[in-house]
Amino acid sequence: MKFFIDTANLAQIREANDLGILDGVTTNPSLMAKEGIKGKDAVTAHYRTICEIVDGPVSAEVFGTSFEDIIEEGKVLAAIHKNIVVKVPMIKDGIKAIKWFTDNGIPTNCTLVFSAGQAILAAKAGATYVSPFLGRIDDSCWDGVELIEQIVGIYNAQGFMTEVLAASIRNPLHIVRCAEAGADVCTCPLSSILGLLKHPLTDLGLQQFLADAKTMQ
Ligand code: G3P
Repeated sequence: MKFFIDTANLAQIREANDLGILDGVTTNPSLMAKEGIKGKDAVTAHYRTICEIVDGPVSAEVFGTSFEDIIEEGKVLAAIHKNIVVKVPMIKDGIKAIKWFTDNGIPTNCTLVFSAGQAILAAKAGATYVSPFLGRIDDSCWDGVELIEQIVGIYNAQGFMTEVLAASIRNPLHIVRCAEAGADVCTCPLSSILGLLKHPLTDLGLQQFLADAKTMQ
């Protein structure tokens, strides 16, 4: 399973990249706005910086919702760097646009996916990635991981090439459960990635080893 970081924060992207286990980055308009990025030039510069930090796919989301606007914006985003993946919302014009990008060799990430039916449409349109938002499903009292399992099962049964990119990850257990479910990619906040490191027995064990090591010096 590939690890992407789900943020537009450059310090966090650098920290995750320095771990050596980062495969890519996903952003969305909320994450970009949180960093105070305003205006087309600033957006372009920010994506370029992210692409310079991480050598892997970087999802950049369109703001438009009509076919024409999505295509226009997507072409501009894709021209920023070879690693840019155009992130397109799961709407009717979005599906049409994903098909257009697929036919024109531009990678896509179909976002805001909450059902298996939506995931089938994204795959039919040739999306490179499909992003089911499992944390938001959990928030509404449904089981987000079940949806990941269902989509992975359908894609395997049908031979769809679209990669399942589990998004809206909230904690380390989500990452483990996505790995069990066979997700191709998990995009996570830095806190969830670092949370995987933690176990109290590791801390206790290390404490003891270091104390014993001191007696040997
Ligand atoms: O990038 C999309 C997704 O990961 C959003 O996560 O936590 O806002 O539901 P969240």
